Amino acid sequence: MVPATLTLEPAGRLAGDLRLPGDKSISHRGLMLALLARGTSTIHGAGDGADVRSTAAIVGALGAEVDQLGRDDVGNVDYRVDSPGLDALAAPGATLDCGNSGTSLRLFAGILAGQPFGAVLDGDASLRGRPMGRIVEPLRAMGATIDGPARGTRAPLTIQGRRRLAAIDWAPPVASAQVKSAIVLAGLRAAGTTRVREAVATRDHTERMLRARGVDVRTRAAGDGMLVEIDGGAIPAALEERVPGDPSAAAFWLVAGAIHPDAEIQLRDCGVNPTRRMGIDLLRRMGAGVEERTRGDAGEPRADLRVASSALQAIDIGPAETAAAIDEIPILCLAATQATGRTTIRGAGELRHKESDRIAGIVTGLRAFGARVQNQGDDLIVDGPTPLHGAAVDSLDDHRLAMTFAIAAIVAGGKTTIRGASSAAISYPAFFRDLERIRR
Ligand code: S3P
Repeated sequence: MVPATLTLEPAGRLAGDLRLPGDKSISHRGLMLALLARGTSTIHGAGDGADVRSTAAIVGALGAEVDQLGRDDVGNVDYRVDSPGLDALAAPGATLDCGNSGTSLRLFAGILAGQPFGAVLDGDASLRGRPMGRIVEPLRAMGATIDGPARGTRAPLTIQGRRRLAAIDWAPPVASAQVKSAIVLAGLRAAGTTRVREAVATRDHTERMLRARGVDVRTRAAGDGMLVEIDGGAIPAALEERVPGDPSAAAFWLVAGAIHPDAEIQLRDCGVNPTRRMGIDLLRRMGAGVEERTRGDAGEPRADLRVASSALQAIDIGPAETAAAIDEIPILCLAATQATGRTTIRGAGELRHKESDRIAGIVTGLRAFGARVQNQGDDLIVDGPTPLHGAAVDSLDDHRLAMTFAIAAIVAGGKTTIRGASSAAISYPAFFRDLERIRR
């Protein structure tokens, strides 16, 4: 067990070989699509973070039998899910608890919109504070009745769905794979063709995974954006699949390896889907020595990665790049503190609506280590290189901030204490164990 407040010392050297937690986004979707499919699905190597556990519990509450077949040596789980399929889901007997997980709440809202029963989706204090109007508005336009605090823009959301929804043509005002996915999943139950027009393309796992299950989802690139189309009426087929390692988890080790002066780290079987690899590409643009060996592509491309100590340069990150690397921005800010020059991260406003206000968390936390970080409007500005010193910091119970500060701690001079360190378990339960594995 990781204590809530953890003390970390700097690391003299970082070396070793790690296997990553199963991709969080793909693990959620694997379980949800197994619920919608009729019959037996098997998901190998799902992440075992608290968020994915929330999804697994809800899949069970909606009428599927969810069994853990076992777990591998890094703690990833093999699930077997037996489901009656999306035409025969069960009305839940109690509130569906999404915990800290925005993906669970928003994607299940899309699924429940197309079900002929009522359900309540809720979560912890962080999730209750996050914006839900972005999914509630399109799902209402499709015919679902949704209530909740602040005119249904906050959880808990009470959803009364219907078996047959209306197709919509929607251009979400924010770049969000969760919004796109909620609409696409509801689109399975709509009469006609549902379209989502993204101004900036977001992660495309829902589209890929539905296609792998025989559902005709069409996508067409348009500038930075993407048009996604789905026809109502299909039922996804059950299948067996393997979840790749999580590139958003990999980013912590890639930055650790790049900024630590004596490091060489290998990461096995990391997902490198083009809509998820922006963190890797931005780090490379900063000059990080990241090598990539392709491992093949069964629906989701994968690679083994290797990183070694590197001299980093500041870069300018535009809004579409920021959106594509949204989960990696906190750790990229840490990389920027060690890069020569001024790094500007433009259009990062969405970070205010994550598990915490990540803009405030990054600025306060990295400044405590001595870094030069500012927020101007929706931009983050980081000047480097700055030697970091040990600090007392607060993760705001946000997993990505906890892990960012842990990597800062091992490259800083002196001792660091992180309040809320155990929140790493939201996406990466073995994070601190892996940190000790590569610390020499
Ligand atoms: C996710 C989408 C992103 C991301 C989150 C996972 C997903 O959220 O930040 O960690 O699995 O679809 P938004 O859709 O809010 O950008």
